[in-house]
This record gives sequence, structure tokens and C-alpha cells, in this order.
Amino acid sequence: TESDVSYLKSVIHDVPDYPIPGIIFRDITGILDDAKAFQLCIDTMKTRYQEQGITKVVGTEARGFLFGAPLALAMGVGFVPVRKPGKLPRETHSQTYELEYGQDTLEIHQDALTEDDVVLMVDDLLATGGTIEATTHLIRAVGAKVNHAVFVIGLPGLKGHERLHNLNVDVFSMVEYEGE
Ligand code: PRP
Ligand code: MG
Repeated sequence: TESDVSYLKSVIHDVPDYPIPGIIFRDITGILDDAKAFQLCIDTMKTRYQEQGITKVVGTEARGFLFGAPLALAMGVGFVPVRKPGKLPRETHSQTYELEYGQDTLEIHQDALTEDDVVLMVDDLLATGGTIEATTHLIRAVGAKVNHAVFVIGLPGLKGHERLHNLNVDVFSMVEYEGE
């Protein structure tokens, strides 16, 4: 609802010129330390996806863990981490993706998902969509189905929505900030 959105925006800290001049950083630690806001995020996400046949929640290191693990528990399904390179101890699949400057790699355990899994991806923020595009490829590489991603914050100006729609991934963000 509109009052949910304004409540979340009231606890998200807007930090100008971080990490570089001209960028406003949307700091979600203000949600984490406010039990009402944190619960509102998890409850809204759960309600939206509980009839979609989801069998696993996948969260991407690091901030995706903060919302993904409690959402999985609330939905009564397992949580699977996608991690930065070298962190997962068993056999992994890797996916390299482009950043504004350079590239990065993400990994998933090969046996974390099966062909029977229907996955919901969770992250704190959708910007260019590069992180969740790479996460989508990892989930599909290990044979599972994924067509939904949920975010606390969406920045529509950065075209992440379009990028994920092209991969047949449907997007929902709890709050959006235009013009960035
Ligand atoms: C941030 C954020 C998202 C991603 C969004 O993660 O948590 O995962 O960027 O950007 P994108 O849509 O352009 O990919 P970051 O890699 O900064 O690190 P963290 O989650 O480990 O803090
Ligand atoms: Mg992140």
C-alpha cells in the first residue's frame, strides 16, 4: 500500500554522494534495525509469492542473504545462497558478469537445486540487473525453474526491469526511486 511505501521510505537512509559524488545511496540498514519495517518486507513478499509453487528461495551475497533467509523461513521453504567466488566449499557452477568497470563472478553449489525446484530470487536492490541476471543463469544452469525476482528497492531508471524481462523474469519491488 501507499502507507507501507512511505513507511519504508522513512526508515531507508538516503546518503548523498556515496560511494561516489552524484549518487544517492539507499541504505537498507534502517529497515533491518526496525522490526516493523523488516517484518513488513518479509510479510509482503511472502503474501505475494505463497501461491506460486515456490520450493526454494535464492539470495545473492551479501545483502540478498539479509532478506532471503527470513523470507525462506517465513514461506516454509529452503534457502540457497549464491556467493562470491571461492566461498562455497563443494562443486559449484560459476557465472561471470559485467560491472560498470570490470567484471565479477558468482557461484552456486551444483547440487543445491534440482529440476523440480521453482525458485524465487531475492535481493535488496535492483539497479542495472547484472547481479540478478547472473543469478538467473546460475539457477537455470543447475536445471531449476526461475521466473520471479523480488526486491526491497527498485531503481527503474537503470533498466534492470527490462533486462530481467528479456530473460522471462518477472520483477516486483516494494519501493521505487525514479530518476537514477
Ligand atoms: C548491490 C546490491 C545488489 C546489486 C544491485 O550489491 O546489493 O545486489 O548491487 O546492482 P545491479 O542490479 O546493478 O547488479 P553489491 O554487489 O554492491 O554488494 P553486496 O550485496 O555484497 O553489499
Ligand atoms: Mg548485493
